[in-house]
Amino acid sequence: MTDLRGRTVIVTGGARGLGAEAARAVVGAGARVVLTDVLVDEGRGTAAELGDAARFVPHDVTSEAQWQRVARYTVAEFGAVDGLVNNAGISGGSHLLEEQSVEDFRRIVDIDLTGVFIGMRTVVPLMKQGAGGSIVNISSAAGLMGLAMTAGYGAAKWGVRGLTKVAAVELGTARIRVNSVHPGMTYTPMTAHVGIERGEGRYPRTPMGRVGEAPEVAAAVAFLLSDAASYITGAELAVDGGWTAGPTLRRPAGG
Ligand SMILES: NC(=O)c1ccc[n+]([C@@H]2O[C@H](COP(=O)([O-])OP(=O)(O)OC[C@H]3O[C@@H](n4cnc5c(N)ncnc54)[C@H](O)[C@@H]3O)[C@@H](O)[C@H]2O)c1
Repeated sequence: MTDLRGRTVIVTGGARGLGAEAARAVVGAGARVVLTDVLVDEGRGTAAELGDAARFVPHDVTSEAQWQRVARYTVAEFGAVDGLVNNAGISGGSHLLEEQSVEDFRRIVDIDLTGVFIGMRTVVPLMKQGAGGSIVNISSAAGLMGLAMTAGYGAAKWGVRGLTKVAAVELGTARIRVNSVHPGMTYTPMTAHVGIERGEGRYPRTPMGRVGEAPEVAAAVAFLLSDAASYITGAELAVDGGWTAGPTLRRPAGG
């Protein structure tokens, strides 16, 4: 059982999907959480559902000024920041490289990669003042392999993986651990519209034969935030049903 009692964790993109589920897991493990998102009504609803241990702050992760506001608010409400989950992100849709506009590419990188950088840059000094901390950056299976039709998204998610390593190396002696989580195809509002089906055998592109569920990713996030992961930093944790382990086994017909 993951124990996060006494901790305060900021979760970006926490209004819905993996961020909301990570916030649920964190509160379930005894921590206080500040969720942030551009979706104000959904964010308020999620925080209300989580009760007194949760707060919501409207926040666009591309804005340095808004990051400062989130950090100030968290310290004023809960006294410290011990954990950060850089989860907010957009997929930007599916386009061949030459069909993705430069504007779109820049927007995806701004939210999915630069937002993670600004977040760490803002929160690390607060963690240094306290007892250290744990940062979990949500990358993707698309940050572990080249996935067609994801030029902007793939570049950003590989960037998150690399930025995580840089931060882990710089912050090890400051007792701040930094790791990346790489979800495979997971059922959330981001992916629901692409027509994936949930359940055993419904997603043969992955060795386990099914898409992931948000609580399965959230459990990995909570583990990395906790002291159970006290010697893990600079690591990349795939939560992808084996998708990035290798091609799916194709048995000959009748075999
Ligand atoms: N669902 C999957 O299959 C999957 C797979 C790999 C990685 N991921 C990653 O997991 C994270 C969460 O994805 P999800 O599936 O829950 O998607 P989602 O769309 O359900 O949730 C993403 C949240 O981020 C918020 N957001 C978007 N832009 C923002 C901004 N500029 N500032 C603040 N918040 C912003 C959205 O409003 C939304 O609430 C993303 O980083 C995504 O790339 C998801």
